[in-house]
Amino acid sequence: MKYSIALVPGDGIGPEVSSWAVNVLDALGDKFGHTFNYVELLAGGCAIDRYGQPLPADTLEAAKQCDALLLGAVGGPQWENLPGELRPERALLGLRAGLGVFANLRPASLLPQLAGACPLKDDVLKASNPEGKPSFDLLIVRELTGGIYFGQRGRKGSGKDEAAFDTEMYARWEIERLLRVAYEAAAKRRKKLCVVDKANVMESSRLWREVAQAISSEYKDIETSFLYVDNCAMQLIRAPGQFDVIATSNIFGDILSDEASVISGSIGMLASASLGAADDLPAKNGRVMGMYEPIHGSAPDIAGKDLANPLAMILSGAMMLRYSFGLEKEACAIEAAVSAVLDKGFRTKDIASRDSALCGEKIVGTREMGTAVLKELE
Ligand code: IPM
Ligand code: MG
Repeated sequence: MKYSIALVPGDGIGPEVSSWAVNVLDALGDKFGHTFNYVELLAGGCAIDRYGQPLPADTLEAAKQCDALLLGAVGGPQWENLPGELRPERALLGLRAGLGVFANLRPASLLPQLAGACPLKDDVLKASNPEGKPSFDLLIVRELTGGIYFGQRGRKGSGKDEAAFDTEMYARWEIERLLRVAYEAAAKRRKKLCVVDKANVMESSRLWREVAQAISSEYKDIETSFLYVDNCAMQLIRAPGQFDVIATSNIFGDILSDEASVISGSIGMLASASLGAADDLPAKNGRVMGMYEPIHGSAPDIAGKDLANPLAMILSGAMMLRYSFGLEKEACAIEAAVSAVLDKGFRTKDIASRDSALCGEKIVGTREMGTAVLKELE
């Protein structure tokens, strides 16, 4: 089969890590008989430099024509002082909204090979793990096209009275469609859903609870629970093994997923999938639009130095195969290759154990890590 992929390398380490995802996908295509055609598109800081805007209309239009979008990272210090609407991050928000990818799946787990890179003590991990193992495996389902990221914002007044505001607003249907994705994900996992909000203070959170309570009866085999976001932030480092699926708003999901990444060893490991609703146009065959990106940023400080961990980006490619193309076997092949490379002791700096030499780990750069994954797929 042929698949067309919109490729947005972006800024900073984005181009280096995304080139490795492409190498891995191509190797896999050769092995399993698929052709991946890439349409390379500019978005983020590089688009500002070239066209004066972070998300040129052509980029969004071209992306919509593809089967899925693979994105590296956007942003960097040289664009930090631009007004909000012109910052590179606007490209991300514009792509998410423009493609309608409202459900952001951010899996976070502690691979046994990375136990040495996890800042939590073994007994903390074991105590909350249902099987008493020193690990955890959770999935954050973050709402991605609503809430405070897209609500009304602005400034009023002047001088010492100047004020600024951002608005958190959610419609019932936005909450419901997100929760349904989360329930369906939970049904394929350990059947536990924790809805995270701030319902003791925020009206929008109270609506989240109402909607969750109303639809929970349709998912009788899933255990639904609720946590305030501050408590959830604490529980994630106190007892991460208690979580299966966490469903939450755009901003809470942003914050909690960074926290979850640290306990999984490194933000350089975490992939993400952002999914839209199934398209009911016959030509699209019920296809779900998907945007796939590592959850790390552009890391300008290490860009171009062969230091970035390409695994989150490579694993985002695996998520694309699974969710947009239904290529489960191929997705598993990538995940197995990454696991094998870790078994062999290859580590980029961010995932090295504190006593890496004693553990027989080999500290490598982006290129060597990418090459090692490719070798496993031969
Ligand atoms: C993320 C990032 C983005 C977000 C930024 C870069 C706009 O932090 O994908 O988590 O806040 O969504
Ligand atoms: Mg974030």
